[in-house]
Amino acid sequence: PLPAPFRVPLPIPAVLRPVSTSGGVDRYEITQREASAEILPGVKTPLWTYEGTFPGPTIESRRGRPVTVSHRNTLPVPTVVHLHGGRTPAASDGYPTDLVVPEGWHGAAVGMGHGSSHGSSHGMQDPRAVLTTLTRDYTFPLEQRPALLWYHDHRMDFTAPAIWRGLAGLHLVRDDAEDSLGLPAGPRELPLMITDRAFAADGSLDYPAVDPTLRERPGVGGSYLAGVLGDVILVNGAPWPVHEVDAARYRLRVLNASNARHYELEAVLDDGRRLDLVQVGADQGLLAAPVVHRFLPIAPAERYDLVVDFSHVPVGGRVTVVNRLGSGRTRDVMAFRVVRRAADGSRIPRVLSADLPLWRRSEAVRVRQFAFRAGRMRAGHGWLIGGLPFDPARTDVTVRLGDVEVWRFVADVHHPVHLHLVGFRVLSRSGGPPLAHDAGLKDTVSLRPGESVEIISRFDGYRGRYLFHCHNAEHEDMGMMANLEIV
Ligand code: C2O
Ligand code: CU
Repeated sequence: PLPAPFRVPLPIPAVLRPVSTSGGVDRYEITQREASAEILPGVKTPLWTYEGTFPGPTIESRRGRPVTVSHRNTLPVPTVVHLHGGRTPAASDGYPTDLVVPEGWHGAAVGMGHGSSHGSSHGMQDPRAVLTTLTRDYTFPLEQRPALLWYHDHRMDFTAPAIWRGLAGLHLVRDDAEDSLGLPAGPRELPLMITDRAFAADGSLDYPAVDPTLRERPGVGGSYLAGVLGDVILVNGAPWPVHEVDAARYRLRVLNASNARHYELEAVLDDGRRLDLVQVGADQGLLAAPVVHRFLPIAPAERYDLVVDFSHVPVGGRVTVVNRLGSGRTRDVMAFRVVRRAADGSRIPRVLSADLPLWRRSEAVRVRQFAFRAGRMRAGHGWLIGGLPFDPARTDVTVRLGDVEVWRFVADVHHPVHLHLVGFRVLSRSGGPPLAHDAGLKDTVSLRPGESVEIISRFDGYRGRYLFHCHNAEHEDMGMMANLEIV
């Protein structure tokens, strides 16, 4: 029962209200629970949710104002919450074995590790590795540039199926400097969480998990090793939605929250002309100056902050957001219908921000290289970093707090590589300059097949154990993750 495209209105996730704002801290409570929603017409889809909805509620924060989110887990399995892009102390960063365990849970504390050497026994031996709680308070200082962050599940070996079932939400950080720029705001600022999903005939989400209870054995069936794709494109949880807009500028906060699907987005008018996508920000906030794109590649976990100007679209006209990499119905993403002329006081300043870190290669105290490649784990196919699958008992990289380092990633196939804790700049792609969409401060960089990409960052913030990994969620679950210790 697939809906015709561009009929369902675009939902905007509700903004979560704090339960308290006293003492200079915004306190939130989120219950992780099962729920169902009518995503496709006429059928109910069972979901795992934050607070009953997919996407979960949006949290809106101010830079430097700390936030505590108390998560209670009533789902049938343990979970872990990670704030993607957050500059977060390690204790609240959602390490994959720092579990929030539901009442009555008798399964393994950690998965069996998809045949690698990691798993419950190793996890148990490492006293840091397994913390079990029914509820957990995550504290986020948010001493960082304003940006669109997102929170999602990060449980070891089972992240991909948990996100697929609905455990993802947005977290916006703002500040006064950004507010004063005059970018489109209020109803003209739209968060767009793009995901693909597959559905069974009864409306349930279809995911090829080896163990559908997500209790014991991780991983996906043989033909899905490269990553799980769906044939229905959802934006904010609705299939191919449409949004009515004024003939004015809009600010689109785009996140690709898909497990494995890459998009190349363009905005196409009825007559085939394309609207400019004016990029004002990247994963970690505003660019120094706007960059104009005709189309934009977006890999899993990447974000773009875009301004699109509908003012020259005739009233009644439609602008379709298309994925140039899709075919058939996965080519369509969503549409905007221009319904009225309207005044527009917004602007796109020529200078957006002046605080972008500009680390020079000469500042780097070290260059490290990591190969992201398929390989064999003990019990079959895996995705490896430097030839090894993830093991929580092993420290892969130790970096001194405050050091600037250059990291070079090489890839066999497409891998979106994400670092926790820090933002970075893209220095080069296969020896050449970065691409136009690599501008600004990033936390996820898309390695294209066969490519080598260099990034540079200063590893400051907090000491402790963090991660870097491929954000193709199936690759991540099948080993493509490593420990980063900041000392
Ligand atoms: Cu989206 Cu390890 O994160
Ligand atoms: Cu990968």
